[in-house]
Amino acid sequence: MNEKILLLDDDKLLLSSMEKVVKSEGFSVDGVDNCREALKLLKQKPYDLIVANVKMPEMDGIEFIEKARRTQDDDKKIRVIIIAGQASEEAPVKAIKMQASDYLLKPFETNDFIHVINKNIRYIRLNKEKEQYVRQLEEKNKELEKANIKYLKVKKELIRKEGLSMIGKIASSVGHELRNPLGSIKNVAFFLKKYVNIEDPTADEYIDTLNDEVRTAENILSDLLNFSKKEKLNKKEVSLAKIVEKALDSATIPERISLKSKLSRETCKIYADPDKLQQALKNILENSVSSIEKKGEINIKTEKEDSQILIKVSDDGQGMSENTKKNMFIPLYTTKTRGLGLGLPVVKDIVENHGGNIDIESSYDCGTEVVLRIPARRKKG
Ligand SMILES: Nc1ncnc2c1ncn2[C@@H]1O[C@H](COP(=O)(O)OP(=O)(O)O)[C@@H](O)[C@H]1O
Ligand SMILES: [Mg+2]
Repeated sequence: MNEKILLLDDDKLLLSSMEKVVKSEGFSVDGVDNCREALKLLKQKPYDLIVANVKMPEMDGIEFIEKARRTQDDDKKIRVIIIAGQASEEAPVKAIKMQASDYLLKPFETNDFIHVINKNIRYIRLNKEKEQYVRQLEEKNKELEKANIKYLKVKKELIRKEGLSMIGKIASSVGHELRNPLGSIKNVAFFLKKYVNIEDPTADEYIDTLNDEVRTAENILSDLLNFSKKEKLNKKEVSLAKIVEKALDSATIPERISLKSKLSRETCKIYADPDKLQQALKNILENSVSSIEKKGEINIKTEKEDSQILIKVSDDGQGMSENTKKNMFIPLYTTKTRGLGLGLPVVKDIVENHGGNIDIESSYDCGTEVVLRIPARRKKG
């Protein structure tokens, strides 16, 4: 390390002898005999240390040091050693006033001068080392933070997957157990309506309500059973337009909602499991439908971006709160009184099993956009 030192003294003889000594100690040095010149040099390049006589004819010592400091970077507090005359005010007091780090009393021995310079340079080196360590520490800290975020993400994903598989098992057994009693209720309702002669007209209404409720329960059941099915993907070259069409059919969009679709020609063929992808789209569309209270609009668009197919579904429904956005992929999380909270976790699973990903942007009271990204072609090998 070759520290740069600036010497300032109007005593030319002393200045040149100080210069020689500093050079012989291995530092690089500039010597000047007036403040103006010193400030000019300070503006041109950075110095590590200033050794300055503070009793100069043109400028007061405090003023010079203040100006000198202002020429340097904010974070680099340049060290200053002042040279003071014996007869002047007490040198240590002066040094404190000027926020100097050290002082030399005139006349001084060469050895004392060398000692003070080296002492201050040691301090500067230590400080630089410390700053370097702090920087390294900050970098390591950032890396650690990144690793931590990654760890938390992986952990969350593991918990989610584990949750999914456990819920899947329960869903499967409960689903099958419920199928038979529901079937019986349906049969009894059918039998009552058709063959039993009941006089009371409200009884007919009750039977209709019963049938409606059975249908709702069957839908929930089919969601549960779909969720528990952990079959391998059956991927093939399929028409994306057909998948979208079937999903739109199965999701049943009510008339109060207008549907717009824009399917890019580039995306006509896709390598995917059509049933699973249709299921994913159906879940997304159903969420959009239930987010729109009265009249509204759902847009479905497909695009090609590099080697990926993008499927975008947006709605102008009620949107999600921040809390919902945080939890929407957690199995069983729902804000609906009759929701199961399995729709989005299933979509995420299906898309990720296709090697793709899902992005959801939503703002409260404005609407939601779901973007699925799926690789367009089958992977080689
Ligand atoms: N398009 C959407 N608009 C507003 N909220 C949505 C939308 N899609 C999903 N959500 C929110 O995410 C939650 C979880 O969705 P999902 O997993 O499909 O379960 P469910 O539909 O059974 O509630 C919903 O309860 C809802 O609050
Ligand atoms: Mg849903």
